[in-house]
Amino acid sequence: MNDEIEIEDIGSNPAPRRPIGEIMRIRLSRRAAMRGLAGTTAAMALADSLIDDAEAQVAQAIPQTGGPSTLLFPELRHQLAQTDAVAEGYEIQHVIRWGDPVLAASPPFEPTRQTAQAQAMQFGYNNDFLDFIPLPKGSRSSDHGLLWVNHEYTSTPIMLPGEDGRPASNRRTTAAQAAVEMAAHGGSVVEIRRVNGKWETLPGGAMNRRITTDTPMRLSGPAAGHPRLRTSADATGTRVLGTLNNCAGGNTPWGTVLTAEENFNAYFSGEAAATGEQAASYRRYGIPRNPVYNWAAHVARFSLDREPNEPNRFGWIVEIDPFDPSSTPIKRTALGRFKHEGCTHAVAPDGRVVIYMGDDERHDYVYKFVTARPWDANDPAANRDLLDEGTLYVAKFEDNGTLRWLPLSFGEGPLTPANNFHNQGDVLIETRRAADLLGATPMDRPEDVETNPVTGRVYVMLTNNSSRTMANATNPRPRNAHGHVVEIIPPGAGTARVEHASLEARWEIFLLAGKPGQDEGARYHRATSESGWLSCPDNCAFDNKGRIWIATDGAPGAAGVADGIYAADTMGGGRALTRLFYQAPVGAEVCGPLFTPDNTTLFLAIQHPGEGSGSSFDNPSTRWPDFRADMPPRPTVIAIVKKDGGAIG
Ligand code: FEO
Ligand code: CA
Ligand code: CA
Ligand code: CA
Repeated sequence: MNDEIEIEDIGSNPAPRRPIGEIMRIRLSRRAAMRGLAGTTAAMALADSLIDDAEAQVAQAIPQTGGPSTLLFPELRHQLAQTDAVAEGYEIQHVIRWGDPVLAASPPFEPTRQTAQAQAMQFGYNNDFLDFIPLPKGSRSSDHGLLWVNHEYTSTPIMLPGEDGRPASNRRTTAAQAAVEMAAHGGSVVEIRRVNGKWETLPGGAMNRRITTDTPMRLSGPAAGHPRLRTSADATGTRVLGTLNNCAGGNTPWGTVLTAEENFNAYFSGEAAATGEQAASYRRYGIPRNPVYNWAAHVARFSLDREPNEPNRFGWIVEIDPFDPSSTPIKRTALGRFKHEGCTHAVAPDGRVVIYMGDDERHDYVYKFVTARPWDANDPAANRDLLDEGTLYVAKFEDNGTLRWLPLSFGEGPLTPANNFHNQGDVLIETRRAADLLGATPMDRPEDVETNPVTGRVYVMLTNNSSRTMANATNPRPRNAHGHVVEIIPPGAGTARVEHASLEARWEIFLLAGKPGQDEGARYHRATSESGWLSCPDNCAFDNKGRIWIATDGAPGAAGVADGIYAADTMGGGRALTRLFYQAPVGAEVCGPLFTPDNTTLFLAIQHPGEGSGSSFDNPSTRWPDFRADMPPRPTVIAIVKKDGGAIG
C-alpha cells in the first residue's frame, strides 16, 4: 500500500480483549502443565523449546534427505534492491505485466496515454491471487493452462503520470483517470503455455477474459434480494456491477475460481458515513466519510449519499467459471461479508466442501464455511449452486490449545431480533457484528488461510497488528509488528480422514516472525539463518511434499530486507526452519504463490513494485521489470523454474 492508501490497517473492531499479563499466565500454565515447569519467562521459553522438540520428534514420520531441512536450494541472502533475486540454480521468467494484451483487440501499452478502453483489454494492475487451471480441462498438465489473476487495487502515484510536477493522487483523480483505475481492477483469465522451457501467454486465447468494476455479476444465497442490497439501478438486490479489491482467493473441486473482495470500503465515501442510517455498519467495515479513492466524485454509485446500499454489495466471495468468458460471476453471500482474504477449500470425508477464510483487519476473525451437501464429481449441475447452502462459522481459539467453530446462524445464540437480526441475510450483511456477539477470537490480521494437502493441517497467516495492546494465547504478542503463523489441526489431521467439517480442532503456533534475538518473542527452528527470518507473512502455498512457501508483505526495508518467499518443512527435524528463496524488487510485496501440479514452476504475482513514499510515475524507486526510461514499474506475474527443469525446492 502506498502512503495515501492505508486501507488495510483500519482497526474497526471495538471488541474488548484481555490484558497481556493474564494471557501469558494462561499460556504459561498450559505449557507448564505439559512440562512440569513454572514461574519465569526463561522457564517458559525452555518449556516451549522442549515441547517443540518433542513435537518435532513425534513428527519424524516424514523421511529426511539429510540436514535439518529437506529443502536443498542454496539460500539467498537478504537484500533490498531495484531488481529481484532468486536462489542459485533457478531462473525468473516474466509471464505477463500490467498493460500486456489479454484480449485480441488490445492496443499496445502506452503508459503516458492510457485509456479506460485500452486498459479493459489489457492485463490489470496489482496482480494478487493466482490460480492455474490445466488445459485440456480435467487434465494435470503443467505446461498449458488458464491463469486466473486478481487485480487488487491501483497504486495511483506510480501508475498514472503526474501533472505540473505533482504526482498523481488517488484522492484527486479526474473522471478519465478514475475510469482507467476501474478498468485496471478485477481479474484476468489468460491462456498460458510453456514452449521450450519458457512460459508465454496466448493473447486472444479463446477463454481469455478481463473482469473489471463494470462486469455484470449476480448476488446469490441467503442475502440475495435483501432490501439492504437494493439500489436505484437494481430494485431486485441481485444484480451488481463488478468486483473490488480482489486480494487472495481459492478454487473449488468442480473447477471454478473463488476471488475474495477485501478492502472494498476504500472506494466509497460520503457524509452518510457519519450521519446516515447505516453509519454504525459503515464504521465496522471502515467505510469512510472522506474519499480514499475519489471515485464517488465521478460515479454516483460510489457515493454513500446517493446509493447508501451499494457498499453492501461488496465484501463477498465471488465464484467465476474460468472456462466460459460469457458466464456471469456470482457473489456467494452465504460465505459472509467482510474484508475477505484467503478462501481455500478442503473436502470433508463425507464429501462436503469446507472453505477456510480470513478477515484481514486488526482484531478481526478466521472463518470457515461448510456446504450443506457433498459435491458430486460426476454431476457438474449439482455443484453449480453448492455454495449457496451451508453454515458459516467463526473461530474461537481457546487458551488451552483447542478451537471451537461457532455457527453464524440466524436464531441461534445472540443472532436474534433482540440484536436487530431478523433473517440470515441480516447476519451475512453484518457478518462482523454477528461474530463480535458470538465472542470470536480477535486475531492479528488474518490474511491467507491454506490447507496443507499432505498433513491436512490448516495454516493461518497473521500478518501483523501494531495496535494490539491486549494479547490472547493465539496472538501472544502486543504491538505485533512482524506477525506469526498459526496451525489449525482438525481431528484426523495426518491420516486419510481429515475432519475439516468438525466443530472442534486443536491449534498451535508454527512460528513467530521477526528477527531472532532482536524482535521480542521471534521463534523459529533454532537453525534458522541470518537471512532465513521473515516479517509479515501474507500468502502461502504448499508443494507436493507438504512444505510451506510463505510470501511476505511488509518486510523491514530499514533493515535492508525486501519482501520475499521463504520455504520450510512443516514436519520433521526441519519444521519451521524457514529459508529465503526469492526477494522482490523494492516497494513490492509477493502475492499469489502457486505451483504447477508437477512442482516444476512456481508462479508469483509481484505486486506494487516501486510503491512507497517519494516514489512516483515520473521518479519511481525502480523501473522493474523493464528498466526502460519510458516505462514505469509494472506489477508482473513471474514464473520461477529450476534451470535443470526439475522440481522446485
Ligand atoms: Fe490485500 Fe490483506 O492483503
Ligand atoms: Ca496486497
Ligand atoms: Ca494479502
Ligand atoms: Ca498484506
